[in-house]
Amino acid sequence: MEALVLVGHGSRLPHSKNVVMEVAEKIKARNIYDIVEVGMMEFNEPTIPQTIKKVIDAGAKKVIVTPVFLAPGNHTERDIPKILGIYEGDDEGGHDHHHEHHHHHHHHHDTETVEIPEGVELVYRKPMGADDRIIDIVLDRANGL
Ligand code: NI
Repeated sequence: MEALVLVGHGSRLPHSKNVVMEVAEKIKARNIYDIVEVGMMEFNEPTIPQTIKKVIDAGAKKVIVTPVFLAPGNHTERDIPKILGIYEGDDEGGHDHHHEHHHHHHHHHDTETVEIPEGVELVYRKPMGADDRIIDIVLDRANGL
C-alpha cells in the first residue's frame, strides 16, 4: 500500500488547511494512491507525525511526503526533515535564525520525530518551485480569473 501525505503550512485561519485538504481530495479522486492524507506543519491538526502514524497504521508500506509549498525554506529544508528523522544538517539546537521568513510568532507543534517501523519506506519530495504549470495559475490570477 502506498500513501501520499501532503504537508501544508497551517494557520490560525482555516484557509491553509482547507486548501491543502481540497488538493488532497482532488488527488484522491484520481485513484493513484491507496491513501491520500494531509499533515500540517504548524497551527493545525493533524500534525505530520499524527498523519504518518495514521497511514502506517492503515497499512501503508511506502509513505510519500510532499510539501504543498511553493519555495524551499526553513520548513521544507529543516523542520519537516527533522520531524521525519531524516535531517542531515548541523544546526542542532540552533533556533537563532528560526523562521526568519516570518514576521509573526509561531506556535510550533512539539517537534516529535515520527517512528518509521521496519518494512516501511519513507520518501520526502520537493516543493513546487517555479514550474510552468504554476505560471499559468499566476497569469490567471493576474487576469482576475
Ligand atoms: Ni512557518
